[in-house]
Amino acid sequence: MNETDNDVIDVDIFREGFLKYTTEAFQLIPIIKKPRILDVGCGTGTPTIELAHLSGGKIIAMDINKKDLQILNQKIKKKKLSNQIKTLNASFLKNKFDKNSFDIIWAEGVFHIIGFEKSFKASQRILKKMGYLVLNESLKKISPYLRDIAKFGYKEYKKLKLPERVWWNEFYKPLEKEINGLLVEDPKLIKNRQIRRYRREISMVKPNPKEFDTAFYVLQKI
Ligand SMILES: C[S@@+](CC[C@H](N)C(=O)[O-])C[C@H]1O[C@@H](n2cnc3c(N)ncnc32)[C@H](O)[C@@H]1O
Repeated sequence: MNETDNDVIDVDIFREGFLKYTTEAFQLIPIIKKPRILDVGCGTGTPTIELAHLSGGKIIAMDINKKDLQILNQKIKKKKLSNQIKTLNASFLKNKFDKNSFDIIWAEGVFHIIGFEKSFKASQRILKKMGYLVLNESLKKISPYLRDIAKFGYKEYKKLKLPERVWWNEFYKPLEKEINGLLVEDPKLIKNRQIRRYRREISMVKPNPKEFDTAFYVLQKI
């Protein structure tokens, strides 16, 4: 790995600002004692750790990205949560979980990547009857699927809309400030892979922040 490949920002610090919404969304679900939860597309697991604390349940945190799971494994060890969280490096669409095996499926920012129809179908099979599917998704991207959500075997149970322009105000704007500060200190970082990735995302979100508004959707299997 050369120097331009190393991460230079701990983006989780910015992501953690959204945990208040994860908490609020979790509280929309009726209390389930020690639920079995699948966190799909958990990434480095910022919400996963929070879910473990909130639920007291057992969580499988799955992602196709090995590097992110290594970071999550370190967090699990440091926070002594290995009895609650197990990581799994696999694709959700190729999962081999038993039918009706989870009380809750949690998926923040991943179904639009995998594809809504396939993800709804895969979740339906492995959720217990009356189980909950919780998504944090772009209002724009998910809305066509919600019009006839019963077709996929769910009803809309509750919704939590995040504040307007939240991704700009609470994530990309402070991240841009951090990046600009780093570039002043070391202009060569302009070539760094992580800096290039986030500058690209900032250039998409900054001119049109409302386009990136999201909400938590709590769907219930019917
Ligand atoms: C936008 S990130 C969200 C990460 C995390 N849920 C969060 O909110 O911080 C989307 C994640 O989905 C993962 N992902 C994409 N396709 C996947 C698949 N087919 N199965 C499992 N995870 C997938 C990516 O590797 C990435 O970590």
